[in-house]
Amino acid sequence: MSAEPRFLDARAYHAAPGFLGHLLDELGEVERVDGELVLAPGPERRAYWTRNVWRAPFLLEFGSIGDAVRALKGLQRNWAPLPTRLHRRTALIAEKLPHVPTKPKAFPFELPMAPMGTFQLVDEHLLLGSAECSNPFPNGEFKFVEDREGPPSRAYRKIWEALVFAGRLPKAGERCLDAGSAPGGWTWALAGLGATVVSVDRAELDPRVAAMPGVEHRIGDALAMKPDDVGPMDWVCSDVICYPPRLLEWVERWLESGLGRNFVCTIKMQGADFDKATADRFAAIPGSRVLHLWHNKHELTWLLIR
Ligand SMILES: C[S@@+](CC[C@H](N)C(=O)[O-])C[C@H]1O[C@@H](n2cnc3c(N)ncnc32)[C@H](O)[C@@H]1O
Repeated sequence: MSAEPRFLDARAYHAAPGFLGHLLDELGEVERVDGELVLAPGPERRAYWTRNVWRAPFLLEFGSIGDAVRALKGLQRNWAPLPTRLHRRTALIAEKLPHVPTKPKAFPFELPMAPMGTFQLVDEHLLLGSAECSNPFPNGEFKFVEDREGPPSRAYRKIWEALVFAGRLPKAGERCLDAGSAPGGWTWALAGLGATVVSVDRAELDPRVAAMPGVEHRIGDALAMKPDDVGPMDWVCSDVICYPPRLLEWVERWLESGLGRNFVCTIKMQGADFDKATADRFAAIPGSRVLHLWHNKHELTWLLIR
């Protein structure tokens, strides 16, 4: 039996782990929810709390596992399974599809260019899939070789992931501001790329990071510091814990000054709330993006790369 995909006028939104509630609040009317995958009718809607968006979802009725595999392979090479039910059958299909590399990569690396499709079984003979997805990693999982010795905190994973999505790295000789830097994971990552870093926190840096070449640490309130106090920066980074509107004010001051070029800032949600209004104001800054990274917890990442 030859299986043909039936494309849907909908998008499927795969929630960032643990944030299905926020995603459902953002989306409004939806059609169905399978595990953390939400199918919502119509064109793509702005949704921050996703790990992946299925941009061209289709239903595929199939007879045998071989039929499903042939139909998926006929659409494109790479498919990642999202097993929410019928785990064994999902695995049998996945095993017969071309191998998708899942080995963690060593930073720095580029975003994969090859499209990554995803599928899940709705029942034994029906599959929901999408060849086009927003995230090039299988189910949005950003895997890389971790450094468990160098950085003093695991927060470095966020800046590494943000830089891979930015498609640009701080270079030797570029100046970075790292606001809310202690104990120094981000400063370690930036200085490790050869950039010079002005690191600002109310607390001290880990001494090993403070001693890295190109690192200058200033103790104080990073949000009270004016752009003129530190001068032009190729990268303005913040991981400060503060209310999102406070971060936005600070970012706006930097943008008005014209002294900052690229920005990587964590928008940290306070308590259980999601400050959607402020996230939308960040997203409205021309040329910028608001993402939930694999290594973000109850926070979003704002990127402006110029
Ligand atoms: C999540 S931690 C940063 C972790 C850091 N990015 C790393 O990689 O190790 C947040 C930091 O923000 C600092 N912080 C909070 N408010 C601040 C402010 N107004 N000015 C400077 N630092 C602040 C805290 O002291 C804390 O070290």
